[in-house]
Amino acid sequence: MRICVIPGDGIGPEVIGAAVRVLCALAPDALITEAEAGWGAFERHGVALPAATLAAARAADAILFGAVASPSHPVSGYRSPVVQLRRDLDLYANIRPVSAISLERPVDLVIVRENTEDLYIGRERLEDDGATAIAERLITRRASARIARAAFDLARRRAADLGRPARVTVVHKANVLRVSDGLFRETVLAAARDYPDVAVEEMLVDVAAMRLAQMPERFDVLVTTNMFGDILSDVACIHGGGLGLVASANMGDAQALFEPVHGAAPDIAGQGTANPLAAITCVAMLLEWLDLRLPAARLRAAIAGVLRDGPYTPDLGGAANTFEVTESVLARLYTNFT
Ligand code: NAI
Ligand code: MG
Repeated sequence: MRICVIPGDGIGPEVIGAAVRVLCALAPDALITEAEAGWGAFERHGVALPAATLAAARAADAILFGAVASPSHPVSGYRSPVVQLRRDLDLYANIRPVSAISLERPVDLVIVRENTEDLYIGRERLEDDGATAIAERLITRRASARIARAAFDLARRRAADLGRPARVTVVHKANVLRVSDGLFRETVLAAARDYPDVAVEEMLVDVAAMRLAQMPERFDVLVTTNMFGDILSDVACIHGGGLGLVASANMGDAQALFEPVHGAAPDIAGQGTANPLAAITCVAMLLEWLDLRLPAARLRAAIAGVLRDGPYTPDLGGAANTFEVTESVLARLYTNFT
């Protein structure tokens, strides 16, 4: 099993360092290669995703990605490496599970976000001497159909695991974006006919945002286009204990890349206080994807133990640092099961 690790910038290396310690404890046979990407790589090499990194990612079974610091202003030659990796490796399904850390709100939902098209194709231009900006939005039947299948298959597996009926909420704005979201909607609803055991509902994206904030427990699997999925998954994160805890997967047919939902967090980088649990949860998702179910279950139990009893990093109201939380996860891996 070959794992390519891309720590990135800011707190990326801090949380990925923690995640790799956990990975090595659970999968000692994993062949780990480390590769560069991000703003630091851009400053060193003039490219955010060096060719060697892309080659290492292509050669791996799975990729563990930290976070990169992408500037919000245009920088000539800079392209977001994670957006490029998703596209070059055709990791078309972005899976963002959120489960509640408190028992008061039994939230357990997954956002399935299309990962290769929509406004993210980056076709933007200025006209009228810079007075008008235009962005193109790409939606295809092919991408909509495969993201629909990813969502319906996932809903089916969850229903079997959890012993309850499957439900998929199709989120769009086809009342305004009649052509592009119209095609997405029609394609997903057509795919749904192959899944008569899955209950399907539609919801407009603005209403979905409100309901995700207000009554997240009503959702099971949500499927949506790239930009809506990006925004809705940050809303859903609130119920999962915040950015320090929520992990995500970018899945293709043969490969997958796992990354925390959070970014490079420059405000706390270098202090050693970043919450490593989102990155460590990525390891659990990676092990599950490789079908290493027992080590994944041991890790899930260890993470749940830390969330119940501490120690907690400052984002969760504690005073522990990244190292102490990681040590606590590692200690629980051994005490829970031996
Ligand atoms: P961010 O997620 O980096 O930080 C938002 C807030 O959450 C900050 O206050 C930060 O300290 C806190 N936070 C995030 N992760 C945490 C953790 N593990 N433990 C404790 N606190 C945590 O988002 P922001 O500030 O919008 O972006 C910062 C940089 O990261 C930007 O350059 C942005 O482009 C990049 N970014 C990269 C992403 C990626 O690589 N996939 C995703 C999001 C942002
Ligand atoms: Mg985001």
